[in-house]
Amino acid sequence: MIQIERPRGTRDFLPDEMEKRRAIERIMRRTAESYGYREVTTPTFEHLNLFTIKSGENIVQEIYAFKDKSGRDLALRPELTAPVMRLFVNECAVMPRPLRFYYFANCFRYENPQKGRYREFWQFGVELIGSDSYLADLEVIVLAYNIMKNLNLDFTLNIGHVGLLRKLLEDVDEARYRKITRMIDKNDIEGLEEYLSSEGFEGYIDRIKDLIGLKGGMEVIEHSREIIPEFDFSHLRNLCEGLEKLEIEYNLDFSIVRGLDYYTGVVFEAFAKRGLGAQNQICGGGSYRLTHLFGGADVPSTGFALGFDRIAEICEMKADSAESILVAYTPGMELEALKISERLRGSGKIVLSDVMERNLKKQLSFANTIGAKYAVIVAENEFKEGKVILRDLEKGEQVLVDISEIRKYF
Ligand code: HAM
Repeated sequence: MIQIERPRGTRDFLPDEMEKRRAIERIMRRTAESYGYREVTTPTFEHLNLFTIKSGENIVQEIYAFKDKSGRDLALRPELTAPVMRLFVNECAVMPRPLRFYYFANCFRYENPQKGRYREFWQFGVELIGSDSYLADLEVIVLAYNIMKNLNLDFTLNIGHVGLLRKLLEDVDEARYRKITRMIDKNDIEGLEEYLSSEGFEGYIDRIKDLIGLKGGMEVIEHSREIIPEFDFSHLRNLCEGLEKLEIEYNLDFSIVRGLDYYTGVVFEAFAKRGLGAQNQICGGGSYRLTHLFGGADVPSTGFALGFDRIAEICEMKADSAESILVAYTPGMELEALKISERLRGSGKIVLSDVMERNLKKQLSFANTIGAKYAVIVAENEFKEGKVILRDLEKGEQVLVDISEIRKYF
């Protein structure tokens, strides 16, 4: 007999873990809903080209792509921004804007599995569609920040703008620009210098290094203006003023280029301060334009995705589980016990009854094993009098109660 293992990079989740994950998910949903975001769901697989058009080399190499039985090229989604933009172009192009969507779904990337990096993982994300105002970026960043705060996470929030590097490298073609940003993304400064020299771009080295070395608050804008005087900083300045007004803690960091290629403006990333090691990026997002590539008009959007699994790993939330009642019975009373169980359900408590045809003693010992708080014992003699025994298993006390009154006790 062979034992079948889980595929590499996937996980199983047992009930304790699932309860915690659902509790975290509830907070994410509630927070997003309180800002007017509404849930959307897209297919688990899409046409491959949805992701190859503009998602960036890294992601494309990591895609789980396959052919279906009719020879179509399909892919398991590596992320949800492109699918949500496809959905928008297909279904929502005429709806009043802005549109506020959120999603919670599994994604698939063929990566080297390690702590915090999986081949199947979950993202909770939002997309705010239809505005290129700094107010849209502000709302989305504040929402991401507040979800993480509501989960009591300890994190830093870094904000950049891909427009700066684009402006600086205006004369560099797309392929070389990508190469340069990949090296910046990997913080490979030596490689970057070598590459720029070999391509005859020595002139950029100092300005790029100065720019990506700038980190801090609003004062960073003044410094970067000296490096790229031709860039219009008003959007970024307005955004920073908004963040300060709303007391959001952040750092400007112009080395953020993001692994996905569709970003056009403000970009941001959040990092957990502890508990995750190298894979500590728990949120990534920014403003982008994708719809015109999917057959729609050019509509600006902004959004983010939280790495749900990384957050679940470090979040110390305890799921509060409901108290349990075991409805036990003496021989022959099992269906009466089931009837009483049905009556007790809906009290907010968990109601269980034995399905192994065990004797009363074993039923009660099982109640202890599962940590049940109460046992309701349906015994033949008492039942004939219209009564059952209600035992508080923690206190070890019991009373005889009328069956007609039993609901009142819970
Ligand atoms: P991303 O940065 O590729 O952005 O992914 C978002 C988050 O997903 C990451 O910050 C990380 O926490 C988590 N993540 C990514 N890959 C893995 C993995 N292999 N295992 C576990 N967690 C992972 C996006 O996907 C964009 N769609 C975000 C966005 C939305 N931008 C605009 N709107």
